[in-house]
Amino acid sequence: MAFLEIDNVVFTYPGRAPVVDGVDWHMQAGEIHCLLGRSGCGKTTLLKLAAGLLAPQSGHIRLRGGELVAPGPHVGFMFQSPTLLDWHTGIDNVLLPVSLQRRPVPQDAAQAMQLLEQLGIAELAQRYPREMSGGQQSRVALARALILEPPLLLLDEPFAALDAITRAELQDDLLQTCHEHGTTVLFVTHDINEAVYLGDRIALMHGGRIVDDIEVALPEPRTQMLRHGAAFNGVCARVRASMDRVAA
Ligand SMILES: Nc1ncnc2c1ncn2[C@@H]1O[C@H](COP(=O)(O)OP(=O)(O)OP(=O)(O)O)[C@@H](O)[C@H]1O
Ligand SMILES: [Mg+2]
Repeated sequence: MAFLEIDNVVFTYPGRAPVVDGVDWHMQAGEIHCLLGRSGCGKTTLLKLAAGLLAPQSGHIRLRGGELVAPGPHVGFMFQSPTLLDWHTGIDNVLLPVSLQRRPVPQDAAQAMQLLEQLGIAELAQRYPREMSGGQQSRVALARALILEPPLLLLDEPFAALDAITRAELQDDLLQTCHEHGTTVLFVTHDINEAVYLGDRIALMHGGRIVDDIEVALPEPRTQMLRHGAAFNGVCARVRASMDRVAA
């Protein structure tokens, strides 16, 4: 049994052709997979299905063998824009998923601070989102997605709006934090470099289907130096060729 099983899943918005058209994908616990594909190919829809935010018309999505029926604390979700609450401080934004369930206790605050520290922004805990840069807001949103220690983390192009250097830093923070917590991650991106750097495996999506399954056999832990090596660029070229082939 895999940790996350997506089996023959079909999803159609009313009156349209299927947007997710018979997808099979399995993940083992602790793996980081990237879902890569062009705009409109169905990535966000598939991620929402995996989160239980949408229900498939047919097929199955199972988490640890149990049918996924609704979103819950077992799944963390991070959207493309940080979507922080303007009237909450950084730490209160991180604590939001806890507050939605119960009154946070000092232990929760300590855990939130630890996450902010891990992500390098502990000193911003009492600031409001408008007093933070985009990258800092993304870190708060990432801490918020991790506060309930979800075994599964789903990320929808979370770093797309950031500059290259900040994005690289956040990628490293993400990898380190998720490896420490043993989190299983499905990461949506349309950036080949990002997919190869983060992923153990890449699912290439096109027209609602997974059209290629690419193993990324690069050394762990990933470091920025890796990006300049032949092995990394070889995998990027392999992925690029596959994308070009399906688009042709
Ligand atoms: N609520 C909706 N109702 C109808 N069609 C929708 C809806 N949401 C998305 N679609 C359509 O479904 C298809 C897939 O959308 P989706 O958001 O999953 O793509 P995506 O791969 O995430 O794209 P992007 O990279 O641009 O974010 C698109 O053609 C889109 O127009
Ligand atoms: Mg999308």
